[in-house]
Amino acid sequence: MTTTTDTAPSAPGALPLIGHAGRLARDRLGFLEEVRALGPVVRIRLGRTPVHVVSAPELVQRMLVAGNGVEFDKGGPFFDQAAQLVGDGLSTCLAGPHRPMRAALRPVFARYQLPHHTERFRDCAVEVTSAWRSGQVVEPYTEMKRFAVAVLARTLFLAPEDRQAVEAVQRNVPVMLSALATHMMVPGSNRLPTPENWRNARASRETRAAVAAMVRRRMSDPVDHHDLMSALVPPDRPDAYTEQEVFDQVITFFIGGTETMSSLLSWTLHLLSRHREEYERLETELDEVLGDRPITYQDLGRLTYLRRVINESLRLHPPVWLLSRVVLVDTELGGHPLPAGAGLLFSPYALHRDPDVFAEPGRFDPDRWIEDRIERRHREAFIPFGAGARRCVGDAFGLAEAQTALAVILRDWRVRPSPGGIPEPLLRMTMRPQGERLVLDRRTDRAPSTGAGVLPGE
Ligand code: HEM
Repeated sequence: MTTTTDTAPSAPGALPLIGHAGRLARDRLGFLEEVRALGPVVRIRLGRTPVHVVSAPELVQRMLVAGNGVEFDKGGPFFDQAAQLVGDGLSTCLAGPHRPMRAALRPVFARYQLPHHTERFRDCAVEVTSAWRSGQVVEPYTEMKRFAVAVLARTLFLAPEDRQAVEAVQRNVPVMLSALATHMMVPGSNRLPTPENWRNARASRETRAAVAAMVRRRMSDPVDHHDLMSALVPPDRPDAYTEQEVFDQVITFFIGGTETMSSLLSWTLHLLSRHREEYERLETELDEVLGDRPITYQDLGRLTYLRRVINESLRLHPPVWLLSRVVLVDTELGGHPLPAGAGLLFSPYALHRDPDVFAEPGRFDPDRWIEDRIERRHREAFIPFGAGARRCVGDAFGLAEAQTALAVILRDWRVRPSPGGIPEPLLRMTMRPQGERLVLDRRTDRAPSTGAGVLPGE
C-alpha cells in the first residue's frame, strides 16, 4: 500500500455553509466532469461534510473489487436517504449480510433461466407495442416503464395473486422516488410537513400493506414458482425471512429492475432516432438475423450490432450515474490518505466520458465496442453495472431484456424525434431523458412480424 500524507486537492468554488451542494444541485453532470479533470481523487464539501470524488478507473476498481468489504463498504453521501426507501435490501445491506443474501437470490437470475425469461421479455414487448398506432407520439420513458414493470410481473412475481402487490408498488414507487430526490437535495426536508411528504407517507403505507398481504399469501402457498418471491418465501421454509426483510427486497428489485431498464431503453431509442446511419445498420441486422421469426434467446448472441448499440447507450447515458461508498478503516487511494468514515462518490457518467479513456467521448459510436478494439482501460472505466461483489445481480438478465425489447420494437417500428421534444437528462436515483417525444411509424419496408402473442390468459 502507498502511504503518504498528501491530502487530495479540493475543488474550487465551495460556499461557506453549503460547500459545493449548490453547484452539484445546479449542474450535476457538468460538475462531476469538472471534478474529474482536477484529479483522480478530489475533495468537495456537501454542506459541511467533506467528500472525496474518485474519478480514476483503476482506483474505482480497487474500491469495488479488492477493497470491497475490507477497506470500503456501502455508505457515504446520499446513502442514508436511499436506504430509507429500500431498507436493508440486497443493494443497500453491508458486506457482512450481503454474501448469504446474494447467494440466496442469485439462482433467480441464473443463466440457465435466461432462455425462458427471454420468452417473457418478448411477450411483454409484443404486448406493449401492440397498443401503438402509426403516427402516434409517445414519451419513450413511459412506454418502456410499462414494459419493464410487465417483465418483473412475469419473471419475479409469478403467482397470480402477486398482481395486486405489483400494481400497488408500481403506483407508489414513483411518489416515493420523487420524495427521495427532494430529501437528497434538501437535507432535513424529510421531517417537514409538506404535501410531498404526506403523499410519500401514504404511498409507503399502501405499498407496505400490499406487500405484506402478498407475503402472507405466499406463506400459505405450497407451490415453488421459481421466482424472486419463492426465493424470499420458500415453500419449505416460509418464515426464512421476516416480513420487513421481504418488503425491503421487493422494493429493491422493483426499483433496480424498472427504473434502470426504462432509462436504458428510452435513451437507446433517443440515440437511434438521432443517428440515421447507425439506426439503418441495426435495422439491417434485425431483418437478417430474425427475418419474421419470433426472437429467442439463441438470437441474442447473433445480434452483435444491437449489443454494441446498447453498450454505447450505457456508456453515454448510464442509468445509474452516481454511486457512493464509505471508508471502513484508515487507508489511502491514489496516495491520498482517507480516514475511516470518509464518504466517497464516484460517477459512471464521468468515467464513461473521460477523454483520456474514450476517444471523442461525446460521440455515439457503437463500433468502439468491437471486441478487438476494446482495451483494458475501456473495460476498467466502463461500469454501468458496477463491479466486484456488488456488481448488478440483474446484469445478464437486464442485457437480455434490453436486447429482446429493442429487437421486437425496432423490427416493426421506426422511431423519429417529434418536433416538440427536447430531451434533458432528469437526474434522480437514475438518469432518464425527460421531455423526449418520439413519433412511431410502422415499418412498411418489411412484412409485419408474426410476433409471439401474449401469454395465454392475459
Ligand atoms: C439497464 C439495466 C441495469 C443497470 C444499468 C443496473 C445498474 C446497477 C448498478 C450500477 C449496480 C451496482 C450499485 C453499486 O455498486 O452500488 C446495480 C446493483 C443491483 N441491481 Fe442493477 N442494473 C440494471 C438492471 C437490473 C435488474 C433488471 C435488476 C433486477 C431485476 C437489478 C437489480 C439490482 C440489485 C438487486 C442490485 C444490488 C446487487 C448487490 O449489491 O448485490 N438491476 N445495478
